[in-house]
Amino acid sequence: MKLTEFNMKRPGLLLASILAVTVSVSSFIWFSPKTELIKKDFSTAEKQYSKMLKSQTDLTQFPRTSDKNGAVKTTDVWDWTQGFFAGGLWYIYEYTKKPEWKAAATKWTEALEQAQFLTQHHDVGFVMYCSYGNAVRFEKDPAKLEKYHKILIQSAESALTRFDPKVGLIKSWNTKASWDKKTVWQYPVIIDNMMNLEMLCYVSKLTGNPKYKDVAISHALNTMKNHFRPDFSTYHVVDYDANGNVLHQQTNQGYADNSTWSRGQGWAIYGFTMMYRETRDQRFLDAAQKAADFYINHPNLPKDKIPYWDFNVNQSGYQPDWAYDANKLSYIPRDASAGALTASGLLELSTFAKDGKKYFTQAEMMLKSLSGADYLAKPGTNAGFILKHSVGSFPHNSEIDVPLIYADYYFLEALLRYQKIEK
Ligand code: GLY
Repeated sequence: MKLTEFNMKRPGLLLASILAVTVSVSSFIWFSPKTELIKKDFSTAEKQYSKMLKSQTDLTQFPRTSDKNGAVKTTDVWDWTQGFFAGGLWYIYEYTKKPEWKAAATKWTEALEQAQFLTQHHDVGFVMYCSYGNAVRFEKDPAKLEKYHKILIQSAESALTRFDPKVGLIKSWNTKASWDKKTVWQYPVIIDNMMNLEMLCYVSKLTGNPKYKDVAISHALNTMKNHFRPDFSTYHVVDYDANGNVLHQQTNQGYADNSTWSRGQGWAIYGFTMMYRETRDQRFLDAAQKAADFYINHPNLPKDKIPYWDFNVNQSGYQPDWAYDANKLSYIPRDASAGALTASGLLELSTFAKDGKKYFTQAEMMLKSLSGADYLAKPGTNAGFILKHSVGSFPHNSEIDVPLIYADYYFLEALLRYQKIEK
């Protein structure tokens, strides 16, 4: 006798089995802890960014952090963080599919149009790819899409103005004094710059012109050679001469020249994983994995997996060249922005690495911590930002233990990656 025949003869049993199947399917769909966590976090994000959209109406001022009175602090269109708010709005749209989020994301993206000509520092990739780079994934109107494509192509051209083929890297900043006051960097390149390369790879695909991606590859190969120490921790700043010889390996935002600034290590993990995705060059995957292993195995990584702002604060053998006063704060602040972007990078790395499960599990722990009361803002607080407890630049005494817009951006991105990846 077939099961259906058996059930037909016993309608009560049939009903019971249908109910059992329905309950187990719906509990899988609705009550999986992963699904619930993502849903709760996006619900918080919607509440927070609704608040932000109400308070921030000047489209020339882009939310970045909060001040000591708890008010939103903004930047203008020429800084490095102005694309993250638009990007976060696109991620909320991607999750919710609610048209009002697309409208807000479009408005804040288009407010960045003139930044396509940003050439005074290297961050045009951060600014334009987090905003317009997300917009092109969702915009269906051909005229708008064509305009966005043109803006991204011009943005890539702007990035290329800072590439000197003799050096083989995109120059991050113009001349800048080091903390030890012994030198003025002439051609400083910071590890963060890896994050500007994704836009170049995209524009090569868009135009069919390999020149943008070639620059990205050259930059990544030279960064791989000169930014990593033998243990695959990273220097923040490498300064070059006009022929591409290394002059200095130092820090600007980290604790000491030989320390590991947490966000910088995160940029390396994320950036080399992304370059592996774009090129399938095994050397980039190896670099990403080794940088990730350094991070996740570090004895100073706290139990909740959200790093101190630098892995080596207060340790012997590490001497800041700037005025660090160990007594000023009674604790070493965490950097949730480093935690969020590393979680996002590790999730992508987990899809490429042979032992991907290891990176997935670590990223999952990071996301669980960031989703808890210690880091996730209570709706209506935190000036409308989603995450608490990030550090902008400790040595500059700037943005210490505050919300930061890029922590929010990479957190939302990581949640979307977490949703898509099954391990
Ligand atoms: N790209 C600058 C920073 O990470 O602070």
